Amino acid sequence: MAKIIAVIGSTGSQGGGLCRAILADTSGAFACRAITRDPSKDKAKALAAAGAEVVQADIDDVESLKKAFAGAHGVYAVTNFWEHFNAAKEKTQAKNIADAAKAAGVQHVVWSTLEDTRKWMPASDTRMPMLQEVYRVPHFDAKAEADAFFAGVPTTFLWTSFYWDNLYMFGLAPKKGEDGKYAWAFPLGTAKMAGIGAEDIGRCAYGIFKAGTPYIGKTVGIMGEALTVEEMGEKLSKGLGIGPVTYNAVDANVYRSWGFPGADEMGNMFQVYRDFEGPFLAARSVETARALNPQLQNFDTWIQNNKSKIPV
Ligand SMILES: NC(=O)c1ccc[n+]([C@@H]2O[C@H](COP(=O)([O-])OP(=O)(O)OC[C@H]3O[C@@H](n4cnc5c(N)ncnc54)[C@H](OP(=O)(O)O)[C@@H]3O)[C@@H](O)[C@H]2O)c1
Repeated sequence: MAKIIAVIGSTGSQGGGLCRAILADTSGAFACRAITRDPSKDKAKALAAAGAEVVQADIDDVESLKKAFAGAHGVYAVTNFWEHFNAAKEKTQAKNIADAAKAAGVQHVVWSTLEDTRKWMPASDTRMPMLQEVYRVPHFDAKAEADAFFAGVPTTFLWTSFYWDNLYMFGLAPKKGEDGKYAWAFPLGTAKMAGIGAEDIGRCAYGIFKAGTPYIGKTVGIMGEALTVEEMGEKLSKGLGIGPVTYNAVDANVYRSWGFPGADEMGNMFQVYRDFEGPFLAARSVETARALNPQLQNFDTWIQNNKSKIPV
């Protein structure tokens, strides 16, 4: 009988990629239970049409999760910080998932978490502000704090990377100026940033579920490729045929001051990528990601696969 994977975030990037990976596997070893708050939305209907069992549940409601996890072999656990920007709420949501997985006796949870960036900066370090009182990068640090909720649950801790899909989903693509030339700005200096195609995260997670036991209790860091912003601009220029892309390496304080929702959070995050480039990249592996997911894209391949979505 197929082992059921209950997938939180099934209508989103990470969980959606996992659902599509399970549904594409014709071996029948695993079955996809797609969790959403709203089974009537188009993305949920598309998963149902592709063969998923679509189940309604809310990660703010632990009882709904217990029902949704009943009989499942595995759970993909992801929280969406960017829906509410609230670290405390993200932690509560992760606790609900862990508690429900424990109650349902799930045999393997893959928890999409991130490292605690405070390990690199003592509280006395003034290079970047504290946010939400106690965090440097709340959507990293709160996920790391939530790891403790999974004690006693057979869990793999998955450290993901910056989605290249942010170029179209978060409006981060190079912008065309009045002079017709493209430019973009990040506080990344000359550091290489670990990136990944969002669809590849779920495919890697499926590799972890298939491999099973050896991954329980392990932390796995994945990326598609590490590139400087300069290198990304060159690849976009070539791949999209848009001429040179000028990179403005702004100061992190300048980036944080731009005031769009999450500017301080993203400013701190990019500064961590820049200032702690060595340990950040060392914690993520292209080889591991490719072993889990032979379809892994590098940035050039991702550009070719997504060029119609990139608004240039
Ligand atoms: N963007 C990046 O570069 C990046 C990199 C690393 C990690 N991350 C992390 O990725 C996480 C977001 O994952 P994503 O990008 O896959 O999300 P996404 O594409 O924005 O989709 C959000 C998903 O979460 C589900 N969801 C949200 N609140 C829910 C709730 N209360 N109950 C049940 N389901 C809920 C939504 O389901 P319904 O709406 O259908 O209920 C949807 O499927 C964030 O926490 C972020 O920190 C992002």
